[in-house]
Amino acid sequence: MEYRHTPVLLAEVTQHLSLNPGSIIVDCTLGGAGHAKRIADSIAPTGILVGIDQDESALTAAATTLRLGQQAILLKGNFGELDRLLVEAGIPFADGFLFDLGVSSPQLDLPERGFSYHQDAPLDMRMDPLLNPLTAAHVVNEYSEEDLTRIIREYGEERWASRIAAFVVAARSRRSLATTLELVDVIKDAIPASARRQGGHPARRTFQALRMEVNGELGVLESGIRAAIRWLKPGGRIVVISYHSLEDRVVKRVFAELARGCECPPDVPICTCGREPVLRLVTRRPVVPTADEIAENPRARSARLRTAERV
Ligand SMILES: C[S@@+](CC[C@H](N)C(=O)[O-])C[C@H]1O[C@@H](n2cnc3c(N)ncnc32)[C@H](O)[C@@H]1O
Repeated sequence: MEYRHTPVLLAEVTQHLSLNPGSIIVDCTLGGAGHAKRIADSIAPTGILVGIDQDESALTAAATTLRLGQQAILLKGNFGELDRLLVEAGIPFADGFLFDLGVSSPQLDLPERGFSYHQDAPLDMRMDPLLNPLTAAHVVNEYSEEDLTRIIREYGEERWASRIAAFVVAARSRRSLATTLELVDVIKDAIPASARRQGGHPARRTFQALRMEVNGELGVLESGIRAAIRWLKPGGRIVVISYHSLEDRVVKRVFAELARGCECPPDVPICTCGREPVLRLVTRRPVVPTADEIAENPRARSARLRTAERV
């Protein structure tokens, strides 16, 4: 099947990375190389693109998009292990990092991956089925009602989280929930009919929550971006596109912390903490897609882009 994913905020990403021929750029979420192709073209002929993805099918698609001959090093792995991956890539430092978080359109659209609430498939949702043993079926059938409530509320921002968790626990006591559409039916039963008519598909938020839990998405984000900043050359930039308020909060907090300089009390005449800022914030507020981009690509809807520069 053709790998179709429209890159989000493409012009903004290339502008914020301030690409030059010869730059070394790391795309930590390569996907189908939508952003990476533009990056590779802008840094050619001497630049190096390192592309990382934990999903084998994304890497296969990216290799076709990028064409051999372009200076690209493609690595399968999780950006939670960025130090190891960059040592493997053999680069000395990087001029830029891109993180375009979450899932790609093909991952969502291929029914057998179990991400879609429109098509029936086993409850899987793993971006890396080879290395990740945790499936959505395990979360749904084994987690306690309290944990399910917490995950659906926090990661899904779902106001009916506790009802959905209670309905899941009741349903699975009769028979394990094995497929996406079995779960969708339980979610629909849990949400009152009047509420079901608003806010898109009733299963959207719960499916997002399960996906984030299965792939440990928030856990690796902070360590990934801290590692990237360590590898950045002075003047190099890190660009992160997030699609969830919890992700954006992590990015904002880490950037703000590393952009702070001296923390001595204002009445101390000479700095004694010696703290120097590591980053300069390029975006004080997140950049969001235009209405036109959202109309053309509804998956851009919740995107927020933040950029910082290594000082
Ligand atoms: C939104 S897509 C990226 C799309 C890409 N920018 C493009 O334009 O084609 C996110 C990709 O990141 C990958 N991914 C998500 N979390 C990851 C992680 N922790 N480590 C490595 N890859 C990850 C997913 O497998 C997916 O292919």
